[in-house]
This record gives sequence, C-alpha cells and structure tokens, in this order.
Amino acid sequence: MKVTVSRKAHFNAAHRLFRPDWSDEKNAQVFGKCSNPNYHGHNYELIVSVTGEIDPETGFVIDMKDLKELIKTEVDEPFDHKNLNEEVPEFKNLNPTAENIAVVIFDKLRPHITSAHELSVTLYETPRNFVSYSG
Ligand code: NI
Repeated sequence: MKVTVSRKAHFNAAHRLFRPDWSDEKNAQVFGKCSNPNYHGHNYELIVSVTGEIDPETGFVIDMKDLKELIKTEVDEPFDHKNLNEEVPEFKNLNPTAENIAVVIFDKLRPHITSAHELSVTLYETPRNFVSYSG
C-alpha cells in the first residue's frame, strides 16, 4: 500500500529567460516579458511529494519535519530572494524556466530521499502556470 505525502513551500526569486546567442528581438519574441534584460520576480510555489509504504513503527511515509528541513536547506536557502541567473550556480549556463527549475530542484532533493520512495516536484511560476517532474 503506497501513500503520497506532500509538502508545500514558497520562494521569491528573480530571473531572466534568454539565450545569449539570440538577438534581443528574438529573445523578446520567444520569452516575452520573462526576457526583460533587467530581470523580474516570481512568487514560486513548490509542492514536493514523496510516495512510499507507511512505516508500521511510526505510521509515516516520511517524517514531515525532515522533509521541511530538506526543502529549507536545498531550495529555500539557495533560491529565496535570489537572482537565479546571477546567484544560483545551476543556472549559470541553464535558462531558468519553470521546467529547468523543477528539474534542478528534483536533482537536489533526490539524493536525500531513500531510493525506496518515489519523488515528484511541482513548481508553480504563476497561479495558472505550473510544471511537474518525477525523474
Ligand atoms: Ni519570468
């Protein structure tokens, strides 16, 4: 019997979507407002879900205190109130789209979750636009 537990988190961050090998015109055409050369912010909402068997001893799939602490260390501290392009090394050469941010977050969390558990991350860039990644 597998059960999924989820934790919501939140961070604010600035980004700019662009390719340095494209003209400003083409970047604006493809990435729209998110290509503003002076950056802009989003209120990102993150949902981290862990699926696995219930531990008969604790009744937990995963201790939520541990999951909360993991998200704080791996996502909140490195990303919150940061310029993703300039301050987060993973995006030095990677366009910080919601898709790529979700994959980076997954890759940061995955080594800390036991392999017996499935992991999934859903990232909202706006209340209406969100992406999911499960490896
Ligand atoms: Ni944007």
